[in-house]
Amino acid sequence: MDLLPNKIDKVSVPPLKIQGIKTKLVPFIMNSISWDGQGTYFEPFMGSGVVGFNIAPRKAIFSDTNPYIIQFYNDLQSGKINEKIAREFLEKESVKLSATPPDKTSYYYEVRDRFNKEHSSLDFLFLQRSNFNGMMRFNSQGNYNVPFGRKPERFKKALITKIVNQIAWVRKLMIGKDWKFIQMSFPKAFEMMSEGDFVYLDPPYIGRYDGYYDNWGEKNADLLAQITQCSKAGYALSMWSENMYRKNDYLDQWSKGIKVTTEHFYYLGAKEKNRGAMTEALIVNRKNFNNNKEIKKRRIQEISLF
Ligand SMILES: C[S@@+](CC[C@H](N)C(=O)[O-])C[C@H]1O[C@@H](n2cnc3c(N)ncnc32)[C@H](O)[C@@H]1O
Repeated sequence: MDLLPNKIDKVSVPPLKIQGIKTKLVPFIMNSISWDGQGTYFEPFMGSGVVGFNIAPRKAIFSDTNPYIIQFYNDLQSGKINEKIAREFLEKESVKLSATPPDKTSYYYEVRDRFNKEHSSLDFLFLQRSNFNGMMRFNSQGNYNVPFGRKPERFKKALITKIVNQIAWVRKLMIGKDWKFIQMSFPKAFEMMSEGDFVYLDPPYIGRYDGYYDNWGEKNADLLAQITQCSKAGYALSMWSENMYRKNDYLDQWSKGIKVTTEHFYYLGAKEKNRGAMTEALIVNRKNFNNNKEIKKRRIQEISLF
């Protein structure tokens, strides 16, 4: 069974943003995978969760080392946060935000200090939706350090409704499904996988500072390549393949899979030099690769077998 082949152009966006979010790649990813959905879907680098939420499997384990993402979705699942609570909170806080200037004295920084002490999911949502560029960055002490997006009138009625609708979408998806949100590093997730399961992997990119909650380096990247290819679960790995300057040698370690690529325009921050076209790859294990010819023609520009 292909992953939702008829819903491929309708990608919904979750309430939390993060650098490296795969919204634009969701159709490419879903079209490249074939999985019967009988086992458990794992997403050990969930970030915003946009890929898994759009796939909407029956049974899933979403995880990340970032405790605040996990807490946020546990709060949505338990009902500690619902549409009404989120709307009331954002409406109340937006009044305070718009009463302060867009500089260092902004109310944004008061919420940021409060979040770094109390770690409330509502404050996290507020920061994520009013910060600079939807980044989710932390310093080496684990403190959230993204600056204000400089728009005191940020939370207009339409934006609050949009965020509330995104919360409603995820909460509705959870109904009747066996979904778990767990804070853990990826090797722990692999310990929970078995035959018939499927794992979508979107680790941080090596050699680039992204400011995620945890450091990522070659040691982790090599371990991931090793354990994925020994695992009984099917897999798909997202990774950059090449840009105008160089090729990603890391992909050589994934030689047991099938590689498909697509062009992706990315940007990291405001600087022009950080913007550009990147060839994004998806490596899928042979058994779970979607060979559908129509889909290949429409979505996959290049296909290469190692
Ligand atoms: C590229 S982002 C994932 C983006 C996500 N696919 C999306 O579309 O929003 C990588 C994620 O890996 C998480 N991470 C970093 N190190 C990790 C580790 N050792 N184990 C699990 N997650 C980790 C980061 O917190 C971040 O959320």
